[in-house]
Formats: sequence, structure tokens, C-alpha cells
Amino acid sequence: MSVRDVLLHPHQGLRDVAEPIAEVNAEIRQLVNDMWETLYHEDGVGLAATQIHVKKRLLVVDVSDKHNQPQCFINPEIIETEGGILGNEGCLSFPGMYLPISRPEFAKIRALDEHGQLRTVEADGLLARCLQHEIDHLNGIVFIDHISRMKRERALKKYFKELDLRKKRL
Ligand code: NI
Repeated sequence: MSVRDVLLHPHQGLRDVAEPIAEVNAEIRQLVNDMWETLYHEDGVGLAATQIHVKKRLLVVDVSDKHNQPQCFINPEIIETEGGILGNEGCLSFPGMYLPISRPEFAKIRALDEHGQLRTVEADGLLARCLQHEIDHLNGIVFIDHISRMKRERALKKYFKELDLRKKRL
């Protein structure tokens, strides 16, 4: 297993639209393992393949308190959503940025797991938010796309300033 590099905004790879996975084979399971390892290394709750510059429809999440319940969703599809709720979000591709984002409160999602088994998950709370955020990534959409231009410009100004300071410290 290996930790992969996570792309940071404004890397153009974050705008890639991922392609469906035809077969869940050993290569895909290796990729899933790498993504879980990267997720824990980065202390995140979700990671999409496009964030490690892989154009495949695959995401991993772990929203458990103890970070011991890794899940993977291959070729995920949102088949139903309900409600709307504002919640704070961050993203491994935007270190230090946290924004209130409005999304459906419930989401029913169909996907394959790492064994190629089809399953349907009815998600609410953090899991629903996280899955919708990661599925956005697979479509080349990032969380700042959901806020107004004015709020986005303000948040990005702060982000680039902090990213600059971060680079200087490295
Ligand atoms: Ni993200």
C-alpha cells in the first residue's frame, strides 16, 4: 500500500470528469487500499480518485469517530435526495478552508463495493454530506462551486494567502 499525493486547488486535475470502472479487479482493490491509506494519512473523512489524479469513478469515506470503518463506493450514483441543510465542509484539496455549504439532507446512493457487490446506502448526516461532496469531485465539481461568486472570491483570497505561507514554511 502507498500514500498518494493529493492534488491541491487550483490543479486542473480537480476538474477532470472520472470514467466508470468496468471491472472491480485486483488493480482496483489496490487503488482502494491506497486511497484508504491516503485518507487516514491526511486525516480526512472522504477522498475521491480524481483528487489523487486518477480519472476513475471511485471514492472512499470513513465518517466514524474512531476512523476504523473504511468504506468504498465504485461507480456511485445518487438515486434519490431529500431536504436541504447547511453544514460546514472542508476538503483535502483546499487545506485550511471551511465553508457552510447547502446540500440535500438525505441521499440514497447506489454503488459497487470493493468486492464488486452492488449495494444501496441510505445516508444522512455527515455521511450524506460527505458522499455528495465526493461524488461532485468525480464530476469535476468542487465545494466552492456551490457558493456565490463574492463569497468564493473572499474565501480564495484567504486560501491562497495561507497556501503561500504554508509553502514558505515547508
Ligand atoms: Ni473534497
